[in-house]
Amino acid sequence: MTSSPQLSIVVPTYKERGNVAELVRRLDLALRDVRWEAIFVDDNSPDGTWEAVKEISAADPRVRCLRRVGRRGLAGACIEGMLSSAAPFVAVIDADLQHDEKVLPQMLAKLASGQADLVAATRYVEGGSAASFSEKRGAISALATKLTHKLTGVRLSDPMSGFFMMRRDRLEEIAPRLSPVGFKILLDIAMTGGERLRIAEQPYTFGERFDGESKFNAQIGVEFLGLLLAKMTGDLVDPRFIFFAIVGTIGLAVHLIALALALTLLHDFNEPFRLAQVIATLIAMTSNFILNNELTYRDRRLKGFALIRGFVLFCLFASVGVLANVDLASWLYVERPVWWVAGAIGAVMSALWNYAMSTLFVWRAR
Ligand code: GDD
Ligand code: MN
Repeated sequence: MTSSPQLSIVVPTYKERGNVAELVRRLDLALRDVRWEAIFVDDNSPDGTWEAVKEISAADPRVRCLRRVGRRGLAGACIEGMLSSAAPFVAVIDADLQHDEKVLPQMLAKLASGQADLVAATRYVEGGSAASFSEKRGAISALATKLTHKLTGVRLSDPMSGFFMMRRDRLEEIAPRLSPVGFKILLDIAMTGGERLRIAEQPYTFGERFDGESKFNAQIGVEFLGLLLAKMTGDLVDPRFIFFAIVGTIGLAVHLIALALALTLLHDFNEPFRLAQVIATLIAMTSNFILNNELTYRDRRLKGFALIRGFVLFCLFASVGVLANVDLASWLYVERPVWWVAGAIGAVMSALWNYAMSTLFVWRAR
């Protein structure tokens, strides 16, 4: 009978065909004294990464492949991979060899000795480095790290890291509360685990990609912001609605600025306010539409003809929202004449209405 692994190494992959054999070779070298297995979680990569992994599996029983179809997402892939393990310890590492596998034994030692529940590999303490980052990616990473520290109070020096190891029993506890969206699996685990999760860190040098290309893009940045915001509300409010509300607030500011400008430009007209208010409304509505298309509904972004159709629909729904808002607020005000209560309830109602109509009809799920 062969003994079961002590450590499962989960490797999320999307279009990493050229990296998998080299990664397995390096894991084998780095983990001579450990009973390990590698679980590749591949989202049906068009380059056939899963085939390459299964070829290796056929010869090496320590290597497994979980091929997911009809789904995409780094965090979800990591969660499913870890949950398919029965080993006491699980690790997550990128397939492209940017994460230094040689620190895995040190990470395991910190868990096995019982001093921590999770060991996060970090580029941002003494002994670690992210010099291989491009200037732009380095700046994005630094900004995201700062924002995370300000907004969450999480105690990780490199919360954006996708390289860590943890006790499986702790993961099983928190797994039902994790989000499958985006890249920020470690941050999500640390925040969901809270104070009870004892965290240690392991410095390492972030290397160059061995083969292929990065999958990082603006969509992932937006999703990250959404995760941060949702966690701040204790997961009570959907990130999409938070973005919608932020865009709406910006829209109000845009409206007031446009109104002030229009009033100065139109001062020679008779009845300038009416016209200025119409112009400001149109500008604010357009700005709201564009921002929602770029941010709130980035994953369903409209282009070309669909963009024009969407804009018309958006304006129509918003007008109905305004009418309903005014009606409701006026009725409430008659019932109970506190102006700000009536006004706020009317405004919240129309925001909810606009959000529901936008989600259902303007930016429909595909
Ligand atoms: N299964 C699956 N599904 N895997 C994915 C997906 C996906 O949708 N998207 C990316 N991956 C895999 C890649 O194949 C790679 O193994 C790993 O996730 C990291 O993706 P990269 O595309 O190499 O990301 P990066 O190098 O730009 O980003 C690195 O830095 C980020 C922040 O600094 C990674 O270490 C991230 O984990 C980290 O958050
Ligand atoms: Mn990478």
